[in-house]
Amino acid sequence: MGCQREATDGNQGRLVKIVVTGADGGLGGEVPTVFTDDELILLDRSQLDVTDKDAVIEAAKKSKPDVIIHAAAYTNVDAAESNPEDAIAVNRNGTANVTLAAAEVSAILMYPSTDYVFDGEKKSPYVETDQTGPLSVYGETKLAGEVEALKHDQTYVIRTSWLYSQTGKSFATTMLKLFADKKELAVVSDEVSSPTYARDFARGLQTLLKTRPDFGTHHFSAGGETSWFEYAQEIARQSGAKTIINPTTAAEWNAPATRPRYSKLDSGQLAKAGVELPDWKESLTHFFKDRP
Ligand SMILES: NC(=O)c1ccc[n+]([C@@H]2O[C@H](COP(=O)([O-])OP(=O)(O)OC[C@H]3O[C@@H](n4cnc5c(N)ncnc54)[C@H](OP(=O)(O)O)[C@@H]3O)[C@@H](O)[C@H]2O)c1
Repeated sequence: MGCQREATDGNQGRLVKIVVTGADGGLGGEVPTVFTDDELILLDRSQLDVTDKDAVIEAAKKSKPDVIIHAAAYTNVDAAESNPEDAIAVNRNGTANVTLAAAEVSAILMYPSTDYVFDGEKKSPYVETDQTGPLSVYGETKLAGEVEALKHDQTYVIRTSWLYSQTGKSFATTMLKLFADKKELAVVSDEVSSPTYARDFARGLQTLLKTRPDFGTHHFSAGGETSWFEYAQEIARQSGAKTIINPTTAAEWNAPATRPRYSKLDSGQLAKAGVELPDWKESLTHFFKDRP
């Protein structure tokens, strides 16, 4: 089942067996670069469709993991507006299946969620107890997934923001492609959060498993905050691209899904537990250093 790699006893004599759903995605693809001392069972969509309840429970019973990193998700924020059933099937129902499976084998469930569960009207970073109010189908379905995931008493819901990775489609990789083709482009300047490098995020998950703060919801994104526009400028600066980047507004851009205008997450709760991420610009430097 899946791509399996045996651990070499890197965890004080105890192997940690981790199932990863959505293993071919941006986050899923970064997990093996970080969890090098653990036994990983990497399941991409072709190996485990999380909407198939029986298959999900069967996979968990067969592998009996200590931890499930549930990285599978419907993440196309704009497409979700016209395909809400698909987004619900994966983000809510798929998560319900994975939660049942985690409970069945008493595994720790790690469910990454998103800053898009908030409405963006706050003027300071969002803390875990802030009122949610998603503006998009994607945000709604991820929040519904949180509710499902928290039905298990060993769940970490870890909200992050603007995830980007070496593999998979993300703002950073899209910008790099556009810089290669375009002399000039426009980027939204009135939406603010913090871009989070998925490999650093995966390192954070690893630290979290070692330090074991309380189960429940935690915020976890890179330090600092920025707009898409400034983020694009920094990607250009660090990659040496010469493309001219002009600011535009979300209203002018008119994407199908509405995003929160301000969704910086306050990661102080995990920082107190010793789980911290670097500033977003430093993380972006790691991203470029790690590029194959
Ligand atoms: N990307 C962000 O900006 C961001 C921000 C905050 C939180 N998050 C959360 O972080 C997690 C990882 O995101 P990501 O950026 O790694 O997303 P991603 O690159 O889109 O990866 C998601 C993976 O899930 C797979 N998948 C979709 N439907 C599935 C199904 N029914 N069964 C099994 N696998 C399925 C996808 O396969 P296909 O490619 O074949 O569809 C893809 O490989 C998600 O929970 C996401 O909501 C992401």
